Amino acid sequence: MANTPIDTRGTWNTKLGFILAAAGSAVGLGNIWGFPTQVADNGGAAFILIYLLCCVAIGFPVMIAELTIGRKTKKNPVGAFKALSNGNSFVPLIGYWGVLCGVMILSFYLVISGWTLGYVFEELFHYFGYSSIASIMGDLENGPKNTVFTLIFMVMTVAIITGGVSKGIERATKMLMPVLIAILLILIGYVFTLDGAMEGFWVYVYPDFSTISGSLILSAMGQAFFSLSLGMGALITYGSYLNRKQNLVESAGYVTLFDIGIAVIAGLLVIPAMYVAQAGGIEIFNPETQKLYSSTTLVFDVLPEMFHNVGAFLGLFLGVTFFVLLGLAALTSSISLLEVPVSYVIDEHGIERKKAAMLVGGLVSILAIIISFNLSLIDIFVFIFNEIGLPLGGLMLCLFLGYFWKSENAVIEIESGYPGFGTSVTSTLWVLFIKYVCPLLIGIVFVTTFMTVAQSLMEMFGF
Ligand code: PHE
Repeated sequence: MANTPIDTRGTWNTKLGFILAAAGSAVGLGNIWGFPTQVADNGGAAFILIYLLCCVAIGFPVMIAELTIGRKTKKNPVGAFKALSNGNSFVPLIGYWGVLCGVMILSFYLVISGWTLGYVFEELFHYFGYSSIASIMGDLENGPKNTVFTLIFMVMTVAIITGGVSKGIERATKMLMPVLIAILLILIGYVFTLDGAMEGFWVYVYPDFSTISGSLILSAMGQAFFSLSLGMGALITYGSYLNRKQNLVESAGYVTLFDIGIAVIAGLLVIPAMYVAQAGGIEIFNPETQKLYSSTTLVFDVLPEMFHNVGAFLGLFLGVTFFVLLGLAALTSSISLLEVPVSYVIDEHGIERKKAAMLVGGLVSILAIIISFNLSLIDIFVFIFNEIGLPLGGLMLCLFLGYFWKSENAVIEIESGYPGFGTSVTSTLWVLFIKYVCPLLIGIVFVTTFMTVAQSLMEMFGF
């Protein structure tokens, strides 16, 4: 056995198992639903370049920081910050904020995940000629239908979490991730045989630098945080199940590369598929604004229409496979979103795992049902908990590590799985990024976002 649990807390069984679980958390709706449409909408490869920069310059150092805090304390985010707080009562708030973000993000993430499941059935019913049931399955606004699929998704997530770290999360993601990659590659292979795919390919790889603006950089950074699962302690939690032999820098590197890789590959599927749809006479640009439709419309309206156009069994195969793919990616992410509050309840309130998973799952389900009937809440939650919440968590984490806990202590922790780290250039660079570069960059994002919000509020009130 690679390593035996040293206490009653779970541990990852193998190095690969951990990397796949963390990559499973990272790869999700953000990669397949969010990234490709942002690329298509924001100047193709120009957006990709900025996004890559954000992942490398901010995401990668913050990920190392989260894993380090997790492994050092072997606790959930609240417990972790408490353990390192030296009695300071502000510090644990960073952890509470993470738990809150986890709960809120999960509540709408489940609704969107439920849509993917609904569309698997939509494709099936459409194929067998039950068009009225198919249209119910595909109706994103149907509250009762949303509730059913959201709850199914929740039950699956709770079931995996209940299995624990190595038997639940690690085993599930180890099985699901390779399936996900295989499905992605099969779909790409097929879409490229269709008319219009090459046009989409060029839109994807041709960089239009004229589109680079402040707001593009903002969205690229927000996308990087969300996609890499950073800023709310998901990786503190996953890091807390790691042993001291693991090289945290190397692991964070793999996870970052994996996430970027899947996003880039998903773009190779979704953007060409959108142009295949267009070649088949389906509108992908809003005629009024001349802008691409929103990600939700593209993924849940345009693509299914394309699958139907391809026709017969092939269309069914493509459609079902695509939505199963999206659902699997969402599931390995929702597991990590739920694990954050569940580990908090287990560690801090001494409740046993199964009960904790059901308790938190039940609470999140109530929120998710409310959202199922009031979809406009999704945008509000995305703004508060993703766009503001995650970078805010990341900023507080950098400041905490750099100036309160002190980077020297973090470096010592990293050294235990990476001998010689302390004297390496990597370590100097990492400390530089955590103490100065990341807080500065995130700070700029905040000031700009704040100003944009203030400006639109003022316009709203007629100033
Ligand atoms: N990274 C996931 C995605 O891309 C979402 C996520 C965010 C998961 C934060 C965990 C924590 O879809």
